[in-house]
Amino acid sequence: MNALDLNPSALAELHHALRPDFLWGAATSAAQIEGAAFGEGKGASIWDAYCRQPGRINDGSNIDVACDHYHRFREDVALLKWLGLDAYRFSIAWPRVQPDGAGAWNEAGFAFYDRLVDALLEAGIQPHATLYHWDLPQALHESMGGWTAREIVPRFADYAAEVARRLGDRLASIATLNEPWCVATLGYETAQFAPGLTSRATAMQVSHHLMLAHGAAIRAMRPLTRAPLGVVLNHTPAFPASALEADRRAARIDDGLNVRWYMDPIFRGSYPADVIEYLGADAPRIEPQDLALIQQPLDFLGVNFYTRSFISTQQPAVPAPGKQGFTDMGWEIYPKALTQHLVRITREYAPPPIYITENGMANADQVVDGRVADVERVAYLRSHLQALARAAELGVDVRGYFYWSLLDNFEWNSGYTKRFGLFHVDYASQARLAKDSAHWYRGFIEAFKQAH
Ligand code: NOJ
Repeated sequence: MNALDLNPSALAELHHALRPDFLWGAATSAAQIEGAAFGEGKGASIWDAYCRQPGRINDGSNIDVACDHYHRFREDVALLKWLGLDAYRFSIAWPRVQPDGAGAWNEAGFAFYDRLVDALLEAGIQPHATLYHWDLPQALHESMGGWTAREIVPRFADYAAEVARRLGDRLASIATLNEPWCVATLGYETAQFAPGLTSRATAMQVSHHLMLAHGAAIRAMRPLTRAPLGVVLNHTPAFPASALEADRRAARIDDGLNVRWYMDPIFRGSYPADVIEYLGADAPRIEPQDLALIQQPLDFLGVNFYTRSFISTQQPAVPAPGKQGFTDMGWEIYPKALTQHLVRITREYAPPPIYITENGMANADQVVDGRVADVERVAYLRSHLQALARAAELGVDVRGYFYWSLLDNFEWNSGYTKRFGLFHVDYASQARLAKDSAHWYRGFIEAFKQAH
């Protein structure tokens, strides 16, 4: 495949539409790649514990080693550099730097992130850190019920402040939470994620504590760092399968639960009234002043976009059309929703500058003769970059794009069975191999920079 297999007019459109200083990046998270799960003083996280519960992870795997990034980070920084990236998004494992989630700091843990950040800067790559990408210290879960307890809010703010003190002079940005909807709903309502609880009321209370923790962390970090501060939300725009009133209402509630439930308190200082009404007795307890704490001014909004949801109340449900196919996760490929959604949130919320902090696909990649010909991923990447450029043309202030993920890695309850990486990982040898999509992305970035 030609490394620049992107038709020239589309390429020109991208160069024209996106800012010359647009950031090209890739993303990962600590629990999914680091390994060294108990190395050098790290405490257990709820994912370390969850993986040990039989039946939780599809392939019975765990994250003791993962991609062994803890020991191979220099090699991985070299991959970022080879790609020609401007920026790298990673997360800090809270139990690596504070094993119990309270009290003593683990110096060896902070030393690891110091080395990583310094290696990135030396390679000319901006380090963008996320504080909470799902690996809660297990000790906090056991001692206070983790996110179910309001007392977690000052714990998280302390952790955030310490990161700002220690790394805030070198980080290009700090995001508080990654995908709070997933944390609350998949972790506490549907049990697909750690810690595996099954109560909607608990999940909604957790979502409120996450919002409070976000606000408290921003407030605590502000005086300590000049790094831009923000949050990363997952947005899966809901489309009604038909014009039926029931479908439209269900789509509106779905959107309410995953988009408006988090955007409204952060940018408007209120929870959506229709969702509160829908939740009834499952709505969270909110104290006076809570919304003022949540609504902190932010420097950026991170949006993770993968797919849309297609909402049908009929029996059997009307399936998503999937004209452009489905990924190996079974997610519909529908890049147009990215354009529409960015335009919509810009209009409805006037958010700060937007970064696409994740976008990518799982694909059934195969190594054949030392090569991974992942044409599907190239097509996905190309069509989503075009959708993004279109959004920019329509006035969306989007400043960067991080492909998910740099490496194949631990895909949560799917274990190692789903591959999202630009680089293939052979878990037996830990060898990294650039897929065709990595070559394509590299060629694209090079061409983008030449055109500017
Ligand atoms: C969102 C999450 O932030 C990331 O951890 C996950 O691997 C990807 N989506 C793919 O599901």
